[in-house]
Amino acid sequence: MNEKKVQKLYLDKIKLIKKYNFYYFEKSKPIISDDLYDKLKKEILKLELNYNFLKSEDSPSLRVGYKPSKNFKKIAHRTPMLSLSNAFNEEDLYNFQKKIINYLSEKDTYKIDFSAEPKIDGISASLTYKNSKLEKGLSRGDGKEGEDITLNLATINDIPKKILSKDFPEDIEIRGEVFIKNSDFENLKEKFANPRNAASGSLRQKNPEYTKKIPLNFIAYTFGYEKGLKIGNQFDFLKQLDKWGFKTNPLNKLISGVKNLVNNYNEVEKKRSDLDFDIDGIVYKVNDFKLQKRLGFVANAPRWAIAHKFSSNKAISKIIDIDIQIGRTGALTPVAKIKPINIGGVLVSNATLHNEDEINRKDVRIGDIVTVERAGDVIPHILSVDLNKRTNSSTKFIFPKNCPSCGSKTIKEFNKITKKNDAVRRCSSEGYNCDKISIEKLKHFVSKEAFNIDGLGKKIIEEFWKLKLIKFPQDIFKLDYNKIEKLEGWGRLSVENLKYSINQKKNISLDRFIFALGVRHIGLENAKIISKHFISIQNFKNLTKKNNYDELLNIDGIGETQVNSIKIFFSNETNIKVLNELAKVLEIKDSNNTKVNGLLKDKSFLVTGKLKGISRAEVKSLIEENSGNTVSSVSKKLNYLIVGEKPTKKKVENAKALKVKVINQNEFLKMLNKTG
Ligand code: IVH
Repeated sequence: MNEKKVQKLYLDKIKLIKKYNFYYFEKSKPIISDDLYDKLKKEILKLELNYNFLKSEDSPSLRVGYKPSKNFKKIAHRTPMLSLSNAFNEEDLYNFQKKIINYLSEKDTYKIDFSAEPKIDGISASLTYKNSKLEKGLSRGDGKEGEDITLNLATINDIPKKILSKDFPEDIEIRGEVFIKNSDFENLKEKFANPRNAASGSLRQKNPEYTKKIPLNFIAYTFGYEKGLKIGNQFDFLKQLDKWGFKTNPLNKLISGVKNLVNNYNEVEKKRSDLDFDIDGIVYKVNDFKLQKRLGFVANAPRWAIAHKFSSNKAISKIIDIDIQIGRTGALTPVAKIKPINIGGVLVSNATLHNEDEINRKDVRIGDIVTVERAGDVIPHILSVDLNKRTNSSTKFIFPKNCPSCGSKTIKEFNKITKKNDAVRRCSSEGYNCDKISIEKLKHFVSKEAFNIDGLGKKIIEEFWKLKLIKFPQDIFKLDYNKIEKLEGWGRLSVENLKYSINQKKNISLDRFIFALGVRHIGLENAKIISKHFISIQNFKNLTKKNNYDELLNIDGIGETQVNSIKIFFSNETNIKVLNELAKVLEIKDSNNTKVNGLLKDKSFLVTGKLKGISRAEVKSLIEENSGNTVSSVSKKLNYLIVGEKPTKKKVENAKALKVKVINQNEFLKMLNKTG
């Protein structure tokens, strides 16, 4: 399918989802079933994954739910809903305390009690109770004005509609956090990126009936406007909230002294993965209300409170299991399955352990409490193990001595350069005998730099493999499209598109083809070098017939490691069969722009110094285009040293000593029948 067609298909789907969103969120009258909606959403995400030029601000990949409905009335908060300043370490906490003490003009030894409250990562809301009845519920909005979401908030069971206690103030705004439990989020995973987005989206539904279906919770922690509150400090207020019928956080504590705050912070952080809700730090509030009043505010944050944030890229969790994944080259990669934990807005449940040596070095075991780090787009990894948290029943993790997929022995290769065994353990079966390796090989075959087949991504490869539609790369070009059309999620149009993109890729360059074979140590660059040497698929295939792999050693840029790897690859009959079968169904283009019998055939060159009007890269291409080759140092093998301005003296001297011809730029160009 060409880009225009894909773009049209994509935009049509976006238009549809926009329409469905409008009816669901704005009109509260969905016009399709949840299943069909999810299917459309998946189709859009799949297209985006396969074609990276597709973008739309209405895509479900960017959109969380729907923008706040215009239908919600805006209402001013009687007391603004403030935000909190952040602390990230002990020093920040000392500064926070010091500023308070200075402001109050007290001695350094002045003891301040703090209410330490885990900071739930949800959506704040303000509930107005008049004469003990819930009258209004507002979202935070911009802090000054919120949206009237009373009806939606009223669907939450944790929010009392009527307070029976006699001592409840006659007019008060109770504030707290609306959130979704991690366990409940499991069922909403498809629709939202994290529990916070899910809570936000649900609160914004136009029709409270839809909010009601989502299991929202509410924890209360402060108040805004009040008339008739007879409590002197935050901790007593929290206790009172409990008595009035609100839920409060069971981990709230009354603490004084920075050291104790830090100890509590560390303890809570360790418990974090055991909690059924996300917390992103601890809020400390000066306990005494009189002091709070004296301290007041700076900008839009109180001087008397601060949020001690957990690191946004690290978290503590528990290893539930250790999985062994098998890569295309047979490498066994251990992956820790951890208790899901929110790290910087992403729910993480897998963390790589890299290889066998890494597991041994850190002595990582199932059941361990570990620190997980997620930095940028890199796969999350285990940073360290908390040995103090280990139980007596814990046992060392035994790395499998047999491949978990095919049962072959696993081996550690000896690295000739480092003179040590590799850190990685591998499945010893070559290629297609091991199912897991086969699947990975197929994924590599269709990957971007190899065949780059639109609409045939990793997921589909796995699906087709399971259905036994493909086993070897050549099967991709002999797919049973009638069968595929009948599969769930496929239709005539999508099958036509797939057929089109597969057929289009039957025409491929030799370098991409060699890369796609997935020979270990033969990356894109090496594949290019090899294709330039062999020029045609026929020559390359002959290599396997002649068994003369030493020929490869003459190729500049190809070393012993690569040659050995190619040898091993073709010592496997299946690999040879794959090569031959593919050559039959494909149109593999000769590596062009290289003259086999060019003017510089069998001649090697090295440049020293700067040439006039021509770059090093261009000289290299010029030499190669004319069948010559370039080397990187002066040796007996070198035929010509081209000397430019400011050459390296040593190179010229060495060349002369070895009787290598030393030529200048003009002499070189003359060899190509060109003049400078
Ligand atoms: S007190 C001035 N207490 O944190 C006091 N806020 O960045 C501000 N939050 O919008 C609110 N747990 O959504 C307070 N125990 C807690 C909290 C808490 C979570 C959130 C709340 C607020 C944000 C402030």
